[in-house]
Amino acid sequence: MKSRITFTLAALMLLSACAGPSGNRYFFPGEIWPDNNHVHINAHGGGFLYDKGVYYWFGEHKTEGENGNLANVGVHCYSSRDLYNWTDEGIVLAVMPPSSGSDIEAGCILERPKVIKNGKTGKYVMWFHLEPKGKGYKGALSGVAISDNVTGPYTYIKAVRPNAGHYPVNVLDIHKGDSPALHLSFDGGSLPANADTLNILGRDMKSGQMARDMTLFVDDDGKAYHIYASEENSTLHIAELSDDYLSHTGKYGRFFVGRFMEAPAMFKREGKYYLMMSGCTGWRPNQARSAVSDNIFGEWKELGDPCIGDTTQTTFHSQSTYILPVQGKPDTYIYIGDRWNPQNAIDGRYVWLPITFEGDRFTIRWNDKWKIEE
Ligand code: DGJ
Repeated sequence: MKSRITFTLAALMLLSACAGPSGNRYFFPGEIWPDNNHVHINAHGGGFLYDKGVYYWFGEHKTEGENGNLANVGVHCYSSRDLYNWTDEGIVLAVMPPSSGSDIEAGCILERPKVIKNGKTGKYVMWFHLEPKGKGYKGALSGVAISDNVTGPYTYIKAVRPNAGHYPVNVLDIHKGDSPALHLSFDGGSLPANADTLNILGRDMKSGQMARDMTLFVDDDGKAYHIYASEENSTLHIAELSDDYLSHTGKYGRFFVGRFMEAPAMFKREGKYYLMMSGCTGWRPNQARSAVSDNIFGEWKELGDPCIGDTTQTTFHSQSTYILPVQGKPDTYIYIGDRWNPQNAIDGRYVWLPITFEGDRFTIRWNDKWKIEE
C-alpha cells in the first residue's frame, strides 16, 4: 500500500513538472501575455534561441515607472516548446549592486540582449547594448557575457566599442587621414545633420566604433555577426565575430549611410539575407524599413516599409527586435516587436505577427488573434 502511494505521488510530481503552462493557443499582439505564473512576460527588446527542442526568449527585465527603463534587475529568460506558453526561467544575467563600480551596476542601461550558441565551444554567448550608469546614451558600448547553460547564470566578461583600429570593408576616402570632422562631438541625444558627409567613423577609429541598438545573426557556416547602429546612430554596421563569438575580428561593413536606422533584426531565406529596422525616434514608434542582400556584406537593397495596412505608419505601434524562424515549418517566420511604454516600462507589450513573402519582399499584416497552424 505504502509503495503504491509513493509511486502515485512520484508520478503526480513528474506530471506537474513536465506539464508546464499550456493554456495559450493563440498570439494576441499588444495584449498582456501571462507566463506560467500568470505574470506578464518581462523580456523586452528580446532575442530568441532554439536549443534542443526548446525556444528561449531573453530580454530586458523592466520595472515600474519611467526609471523602469534602466537596468535595475538584469536579463530575464523564458522557455517554451510551442511559442504560445512561456515558463519563467528567471534572471540569467543579474546587474551588480548600485555603487559597486561594475560596468553593469544597477541603474545602467542594458538593452536588446541576444544569445547565440557556439557550436565549437558549446558555450552560450550573450551580447547587449550597454551604457554606463548616469551617462545617458553617450557610451555606445557592447557588453558580452558567457554561460555553460542556456538558462545561465551568465558571467559578464567585458564591454567594448567594436573594431578599434580597423577600417570597414567598404571604407571611403573621407575616412582616411585628418579632417575637421574628426573633432565633432554630439550629446548622445541629438542627431548630426548630413551624417553621410561626416567622418564619424574616422573620429572613432582609435576608441572603436559606437554600437547602440543591436542584434546577432549566425549564418549557416557557423560564423556569427554583430549588427548595430553606429556613427551616432546614423549608419548600420555589420561586423564579423571571432570563432568563439567573444570579440570582433576587425572585418565589418557600413550600410544605409546617414539613414538613422535602429532596432535591426536579420534573417535568411532561400540564400538571401533580410533586415528589418526602424527609424530613430526614441521610444516613439515609427515607420519600419526593410532590405535584402545576396551577401551579408552587401550590396544591400532597401525594400521600403514591409507593413501592409499600417495606416498610422508606426509598425503597428511597435519597433522590431527579432524575426524568428519557426522550427520544422519551412518558410514560417514571425515578426517580433516591442510596444514600449516609456511612462511605465514594465507594461511594455509584445507585437508578434506572421511574415509573408511577395517576390523578393517580405510583408507584415496586423492580426488581433492568430496561430501559426492557421
Ligand atoms: C530606441 C531604441 O530602439 C531602444 O532600444 C531604446 O534605446 C530607446 N530608443 C531609448 O530612447
